[in-house]
Amino acid sequence: MRVAGRAWRPIWLEADGRTVGIIDQTLLPHRFETATLSTMAAAAHAIRTMQVRGAPLIGATAAYGVALAMAGDPADAALDRALDVLAATRPTAVNLRWALDRMGRVLRPLAPAERTAAAYAEAAALVEEDVRANAAIGRHGLELVRGLAAARPGAPLRILTHCNAGWLATCDWGTALAPVYMAHDAGIPLHVWVDETRPRNQGAALTAWELLQHGVPHTVVADNAGGHLMQRGLVDLCIVGADRVTAAGDVANKIGTYLKALAARDSGVPFHVAVPSSTIDWTISDGIADIPIEERPAAEVTRVQGRTADGQVVSVQVTPDGSPAANPAFDVTPARLVDRLITEAGTCAATAEGLRALFPGRR
Ligand code: MRU
Repeated sequence: MRVAGRAWRPIWLEADGRTVGIIDQTLLPHRFETATLSTMAAAAHAIRTMQVRGAPLIGATAAYGVALAMAGDPADAALDRALDVLAATRPTAVNLRWALDRMGRVLRPLAPAERTAAAYAEAAALVEEDVRANAAIGRHGLELVRGLAAARPGAPLRILTHCNAGWLATCDWGTALAPVYMAHDAGIPLHVWVDETRPRNQGAALTAWELLQHGVPHTVVADNAGGHLMQRGLVDLCIVGADRVTAAGDVANKIGTYLKALAARDSGVPFHVAVPSSTIDWTISDGIADIPIEERPAAEVTRVQGRTADGQVVSVQVTPDGSPAANPAFDVTPARLVDRLITEAGTCAATAEGLRALFPGRR
């Protein structure tokens, strides 16, 4: 996607053919800065500190992290260590495990001397596949958007989204925002309600920034406004992304997604979840019992980051000294509250049968 007229992706191989460039997402929307990852440890740090975040991008960064490890030492022990260290960075997004399993499967049978080139090639292939998957999600989602927009001739379709499931969260296009970008580019009038997404404000900071760059009309709202907007008939459609979808269609996504799905069901608003197949965990069915939910530092709740009038980016405390805080980073929306899953293979009901029909090779 474009930033100030120039095409960017959130991750790329640098011209030296070894190090990896990223956009440092902890600084957006106030500063657009890139960073260079030169070691596996730097890739793990970038995932852990959320310089890169979003399920597909975490997977891609981990894949390049393995390549960086192989460039330093392609022996078996270094490969095992890289897979272990990177797997421990964040627990909920299954794309991380999916990418590392794939790297391990490709690299383990090879002689160490062959591993570095193969690792870079596999990481690059994984990135390109993610871009193609998200573009396909965009095309399938566009048809859903087109259908709903036809019912509102002359008025913008009002879409609510949560967190950031845009191009910054993937290798390009985004998942939930891919249909938004394609609909906007196709001339369908849209207006996006952007949940701020406390505690880290990925909506207010990242989704709003992305939409602004692309010229998509939007309004940032406090997380708690979504139910009210839906009840008043001001939302035509909710689209969110996911960090893990079970084989039966339960959806783990950024904390607060479940409440939006409940409000959407109560108000009769369609609630769709856009996911590449790399986000589907075919090994589990019960999202509430089986998806590990990341607990992040309490300081993300007790403090907020923002820009002062003189342009400095600072973090300030919003809670009293001494009040403990808890920070579960994801929740699970049961499949029964999801209307459609939008994948690269098409859309389906959020059921085991629906998913199996789209991906017949998977159990
Ligand atoms: O904690 P984050 O910012 O990594 O959480 C990201 C989300 O919850 C996204 O909605 C999800 O990864 C889908 S990304 C296309």
